[in-house]
Amino acid sequence: MSDSQDKVELTLAQAKAKHNFLAVEIRLHAKAYYGSDDPTITDTQYDALFKDLLSLEADFPELATQDSPSAEVGAAPSSGFAKITHRHPMLSLANALNPQDVSDFSGRIDRFLGLEETRQLAFVAEPKIDGLSASLIYQDGLYVQGATRGDGRVGEDITKNLKSVAGIAHQLTGTPAGRVEIRGEVYMAKSDFLALNAHQAEIGGKIFANPRNAAAGSLRQLDISITASRPLRFFAYAQADGPLPPTHWETLAQMRQWGLAVNELTQRCDTVEALLDVYNGILQARATLDYEIDGVVYKVDRLDYQNRLGAVARAPRWAIAHKLPAEQAETQLTKIDIQVGRTGALTPVARLDPVSVGGVVVANATLHNEDEIARKDIRVGDRVVIQRAGDVIPQIVSVLDQSRSDRNAPWQPPTTCPCPLKTPTARDEGEAVRRCTGDLDCPFQAVERLKHFVSRGAFDIEGLGATNVETFYEDGLIKTPADIFDLAERRDELLAREGWGNTSVDNLLAAIEARREIGFERFIYALGIRHIGQASARLLAQHYAENDQWRGAMDAAQDREGAAYLELESIDGIGPAMANDILAYMSVKKNRNELDRHGQKLTILAAQLPTSSSPISGKVIVFTGTLEKMTRPEAKAKAQSMGAKVSDSVSKKTDLIVAGPGAGSKRKKAEALGIEIIDEDAWITLANATLN
Ligand code: IVH
Repeated sequence: MSDSQDKVELTLAQAKAKHNFLAVEIRLHAKAYYGSDDPTITDTQYDALFKDLLSLEADFPELATQDSPSAEVGAAPSSGFAKITHRHPMLSLANALNPQDVSDFSGRIDRFLGLEETRQLAFVAEPKIDGLSASLIYQDGLYVQGATRGDGRVGEDITKNLKSVAGIAHQLTGTPAGRVEIRGEVYMAKSDFLALNAHQAEIGGKIFANPRNAAAGSLRQLDISITASRPLRFFAYAQADGPLPPTHWETLAQMRQWGLAVNELTQRCDTVEALLDVYNGILQARATLDYEIDGVVYKVDRLDYQNRLGAVARAPRWAIAHKLPAEQAETQLTKIDIQVGRTGALTPVARLDPVSVGGVVVANATLHNEDEIARKDIRVGDRVVIQRAGDVIPQIVSVLDQSRSDRNAPWQPPTTCPCPLKTPTARDEGEAVRRCTGDLDCPFQAVERLKHFVSRGAFDIEGLGATNVETFYEDGLIKTPADIFDLAERRDELLAREGWGNTSVDNLLAAIEARREIGFERFIYALGIRHIGQASARLLAQHYAENDQWRGAMDAAQDREGAAYLELESIDGIGPAMANDILAYMSVKKNRNELDRHGQKLTILAAQLPTSSSPISGKVIVFTGTLEKMTRPEAKAKAQSMGAKVSDSVSKKTDLIVAGPGAGSKRKKAEALGIEIIDEDAWITLANATLN
């Protein structure tokens, strides 16, 4: 678009006009790319536009203003971390729990790729490190950007934090020119974790529950000097961008050569039996490793196969995590406490004599509910076997010496809530949990709801952590979530608080103001309705699109015979149980008042509906006859990923038939109905066209 010729000839006015044009274009494409995950031009075209903009600004520095897109990219907001949209989503892994699952996994892949005859499928087995994943971008070998996984699509910019992690080279040697993306796991060694906790105990700092939490807490620090002081390490396990060798095995070797840390226990295997041998070897070695692992990951070695296999939901079809059994230890149960959740559920918690389980000290365990305690006959003072598995809260597996004569009496569930109001508790028929009946009158419940409201997946209000929520609640500054948005009017009261000055109050109020505008889906999740997590909140948001519309529909749905109820219950992934939880929430007067107050104080943005530019998006497709270039499951998955519905039978609702040789009655019926019929080649052209 621009070369040195036309730059020389431009007047300032012309340059301005051109700059304006480029800025508008770039913003438009950036919005399509980041906002809806639906890029309108290729990366190269985008980069070219950006390069034009930068070279124009180099010649006319007065154009490089604060509001130029050149100033926006990579700019961190005043608080918290900037967001980074991953070019390729960061996926998670499906689990295999036993050898049969592993052999099923291999069989599924054979069928998908049509390899049943040859049975030539190589894998790579590598330890699944229990840390947190990170994405590293290298430009011409130089480390330029690092991000957390986040929700898989958008992560946090932790470029500076990752610089002090051992195993992350600042400069790679021998990489190809251009952009290379590395993915891997940041973790803390068991020995470093124990030393860190000992040090934290000495200085009265935070004690971490396990190495994973310690790694996460150390990495996500706005003050990077804290991160730098913590002993973090890294293992690279994939390359997501840049020129790739034909296999994963070679990718690993190459990353090692470039100067990245790659786990040495990794092995290439030709059979399922060989994978299981590696698994058993790693299981044996586990206790001697200085890092925690919670499984062994098996990956299809050939990258072209990985591409063909693609992903289902959020996990690739070409990889699986074979879980390792939980680690166990014995200790004494000293006390049973009760915790109150945001919906009033009472959870018994076991307090234990601290004991090391697989190198990590455990002092608490969950007891789930009273039936569980009765079933296992767990009593205070018992010696118990506990187990810990990765991120899961430690559990009591069994009780030792149950025939002892000097045991305490069986534990009794509480009849009143442990909160100062001592509200009665109740256990509904058919429910496993006992609940406090105080609802929002119970201060414990009210505080838990507030904590949920400001938590990361909800309003994500920086500076309003658990401790502040508790003390603000106790002092009457905030009683319900809507009060948070009135805090600006109580600036003087905030300033009068110990430890709060102008800057911290300003920062908090700014963080609150920044959330006055909120996405509909986050808003629904933040309400803390029983059983409505992030996934169901998204379903509701996408179905009802806008808050007012949703409220109207929920009012109408209180009539269980009516169409609005049927509609709610029929949303894929919602169902009658959740529908009832939502309607129960909506029928409580305090909740309705709260929703009204939110409506006045907040701007709730309409949900972004999933869009797809695929030509078969929303269409119903039937595959019939023999496919020669793709297997049936592969074709089906491809069509689904393009937004189509795949059906087995032809009807008036069918939009397209892909007919291979041997297509019979379905083809005839389609002809009779006048439905469009294409052959496999045309289908492949269609599928590939949508890839680009
Ligand atoms: S592969 C698409 N390899 O496990 C493939 N992941 O449940 C996903 N992890 O978020 C990543 N060690 O944080 C892979 N050797 C390994 C891993 C590994 C640990 C973590 C990673 C990921 C999670 C998936």
